[in-house]
Amino acid sequence: MRILSGIQPTGDKHLGNLIGALRHYATNQHLGEAFYFIADLHALTLLPDPTELRRATLSTSAMVLAAGVDPERATLFVQSHVAPEHAQMAWVLQCVANMGELNRMTQFKDKTEGKKDGGSVGLFTYPVLQAADIVLYDADHVPVGHDQKQHLELSRNLAQRFNNRYGADTLVVPKPLIAEVGGRVRDLQDPAKKMSTSTGSEKGTVWITDEPAAVLKKFRSAVTDTGNEVRYDPEAKPGIANLLELMHVATGTEISDLEAEFGSGGYGHFKTAAGEAMVAYLEPIRERYLELVGDEAELERILKQGAARAREVAGATLERAIAKTGLLLG
Ligand code: AMP
Ligand code: TRP
Repeated sequence: MRILSGIQPTGDKHLGNLIGALRHYATNQHLGEAFYFIADLHALTLLPDPTELRRATLSTSAMVLAAGVDPERATLFVQSHVAPEHAQMAWVLQCVANMGELNRMTQFKDKTEGKKDGGSVGLFTYPVLQAADIVLYDADHVPVGHDQKQHLELSRNLAQRFNNRYGADTLVVPKPLIAEVGGRVRDLQDPAKKMSTSTGSEKGTVWITDEPAAVLKKFRSAVTDTGNEVRYDPEAKPGIANLLELMHVATGTEISDLEAEFGSGGYGHFKTAAGEAMVAYLEPIRERYLELVGDEAELERILKQGAARAREVAGATLERAIAKTGLLLG
């Protein structure tokens, strides 16, 4: 079985990234051969500052490793190190995709809201590049957060359509792996919204690198709901439900046991306990991150090794797919 996922090098990473995606990278690397990459070609769609993009690519690599990905077991690479293969596959899939289905992508709509020029063409075709990333590695399973569900549906449709046109079983049709609990971590100040790098609130976003005191403060001031009972009810009590999910992930304690323990003890007591649990959970990850991010030579060594393996696999799939299309191979 093959597992693959990508994460964009966009500044610092938050609890949503860790709980919704990164922690599953580590557990899933034991299920089969895993490929994880830093999606810098995707990040380019918003034209980040070049120095910042370079820095964030290395720091995001360090974060993936800190979250438990073992570079001797899984392949960790930078997408642009395999740019020719990803770009070629994306082109073939762009010819399979249609405007109508891309027009329905909600993330594109969100990212271009209010933009007079409608956003870059790369931003529009971004989900097709994502499909190419996935099929190039014959990925069966793709661990992602809930916000990627629509992109994964598109990837499945494109792989199926390609196979219908050019031959069954040419491309593996991927399945998303989205956790029931923690697949959508909410902003601590606004539980109606997901925790997010771009649209989140400062006080409601917990960065993985936040100092323990800052984490605790953000949890203590989390917006909860009316009432005073600590009960898991995502509809009526989204703030409390979010904190219960986070505490469950941090401690491994079942949500029902947390309800029994904190049910009537008041929100304040519960928020402090949840914050302390998160500090303890984050501590080893944060320490390992700080160690790794300072060792650029080691990061570059790991990424180079990953790129070699990634190119090998992607190149073979690309050749297999292209041969079916009638394009003449070099
Ligand atoms: P990004 O940083 O946008 O590349 O996202 C990296 C991964 O984190 C993707 O799998 C997202 O689905 C996931 N993710 C981002 N925000 C959240 C959130 N608030 N809750 C759960 N998962 C998230
Ligand atoms: N679009 C994803 C995000 O923003 C990142 C990504 C790019 C990805 N290519 C991928 C995720 C392939 C899974 C598989 O989070």
